[in-house]
Amino acid sequence: MKILIINGPNINMLGKREPGHYGGITFMELEELIRERAEKHGIAIDFFQSNSEGDIVTCIQQAESYDGIIINAGAYTHTSIAIRDALLSIKAKFIEVHLSNVFAREPFRHQSYLSDIAFGVIAGFKEDSYLLALDYFATGVWQ
Ligand code: DQA
Repeated sequence: MKILIINGPNINMLGKREPGHYGGITFMELEELIRERAEKHGIAIDFFQSNSEGDIVTCIQQAESYDGIIINAGAYTHTSIAIRDALLSIKAKFIEVHLSNVFAREPFRHQSYLSDIAFGVIAGFKEDSYLLALDYFATGVWQ
């Protein structure tokens, strides 16, 4: 099984950025935790992070070889029809994840252009949101 993990704008600032919402670990530590969990499950993973909407769209367009995608589109979650359309254009199922509980935050974060087309949504468990998504993909029941 091959899973792609996509992180959008400002996720690379983890560790420095609003720890109350996003936790204290750095982006590198997050990637390491995900890598360890993927190894445990025998899942092959690739990472992509970009602060640019167009680069994320291009990455998704090229993701045909993956079985699944875990995406934290950051603030683009709440604004990007382009990322939505890109995800609709490929076969891979995706899980939308957020470190923070977006529903306990400002109203503009309650709107997502991705949730209704996602296989599932996991929010509010900080780095564990990604690990839970990976654990779910590892079950294989969705295939
Ligand atoms: C986020 C939530 C978004 O509202 C915010 O813009 C982010 C991070 C999260 O992981 O909690 O950048 O996606």
